[in-house]
Amino acid sequence: MDKFVVKGGVPLRGPIETSGAKNSALPALAATLLTDQPVVLRRIPHVRDVRTMQRLLVDIGATVDVDNGCVRIQVSRVRSPEAPYELVKTMRASSLVLGPLVARAGRARVSLPGGCGIGARPINLHLAGLEQLGAQIQQAHGYIEAVAPQGLRGAAIRFERITVTGTEDLIMAAVLAQGETVIENAAREPEVADLADLLIKMGARITGGDLTVTGCVPEHNSALITKLQAAGAEVTEVDRSTLRVRAESVLRSVDMSTAEYPGFATDLQAQYMALMTQAEGIAIIEETIFENRFMHAQELARMGANIRLEGNQAIVAGRKELTGAGVIASDLRASASLVLAALVARGETVIDRVYHIDRGYEKIEEKLAGVGAQIRRLD
Ligand code: EPU
Repeated sequence: MDKFVVKGGVPLRGPIETSGAKNSALPALAATLLTDQPVVLRRIPHVRDVRTMQRLLVDIGATVDVDNGCVRIQVSRVRSPEAPYELVKTMRASSLVLGPLVARAGRARVSLPGGCGIGARPINLHLAGLEQLGAQIQQAHGYIEAVAPQGLRGAAIRFERITVTGTEDLIMAAVLAQGETVIENAAREPEVADLADLLIKMGARITGGDLTVTGCVPEHNSALITKLQAAGAEVTEVDRSTLRVRAESVLRSVDMSTAEYPGFATDLQAQYMALMTQAEGIAIIEETIFENRFMHAQELARMGANIRLEGNQAIVAGRKELTGAGVIASDLRASASLVLAALVARGETVIDRVYHIDRGYEKIEEKLAGVGAQIRRLD
């Protein structure tokens, strides 16, 4: 066995490079089981658990080519839907192949992970979730045997406690299940978001947000509601003062022109532009009320949006990944659009001059934090 010999007391200086995250890499590798097409993953760290997962995938039927942190995997056919004890005992994350295998091949035989240095690592929540998706599960000789002869079907699943690999396992199973799955009390670690991003790139439709807006007059928002519905969001009037808004898949771009009431309010144009940066396609947004109300376009572009201004029109090419940046709020509604953009951006955004927002939005950060946003005010 190798040893490290460390002499202390020497100050550390200079650049130090990070590697890709193991706990993002493992579910990404397992996700390659969901398709017969090749998947290329970059910045996969060269660590033992990753090598073990790759060996497991090869046993199952994958061809794996590794080249300098770039891994190309293709599982044309699942030859043997099994994770043997010899591999599972050294890497407990092997339970991550359970969901994808039963979803793709209709059956899986995966050794129970057993205990480890940080305590017992049960997978009862993975199993209960898979049963809800329609798998039949048995345990014998230290193995979990799962079958789904009729395939899996979507279900509403609530984890009784948050589990990272359990959430990942079920998301992977659910993307091949018939119909919709809703997972409540899901883990929200960055590695879970990474997996969702990968699955979306592979063609999955992963449930977006679900908000209930209270204390509003739905009728006053009919122009906005019509656009949201045209873009593919589900907007339902729960009662005379409550709206429920859901986006279950990527929205479509929809052109919009501001107009006097009951048209689309100019005061929602900036926020709509932030939305269109995430929609599929190209949206032409026309501002007909004020001359100079596209200040937010430049700031959104700094976050990665693709927006071209032509006179009173903004042409927004959607589905651009926004990244956190330092941005400046220029007016009240522009600031709201930057907050919305920051909520979908990868990483941290610092929005300066929020006094513009405070002119018109009461406790916006508290309201958004109340529905899960990670937002805080700096004095
Ligand atoms: N739990 C259950 N039943 C289940 C699943 C989990 O009771 O079916 C319990 C566990 O016993 C634990 C708690 O729920 O008490 C949380 O466990 P979780 O399932 O979230 O952990 P995990 O998915 O097995 C991952 C990481 C761990 C990391 C934990 C917590 C991977 C491959 N592993 O484990 O990483 O500590 O989440 O963040 O993503 C490490 O890298 O060193 C490591 C241990």
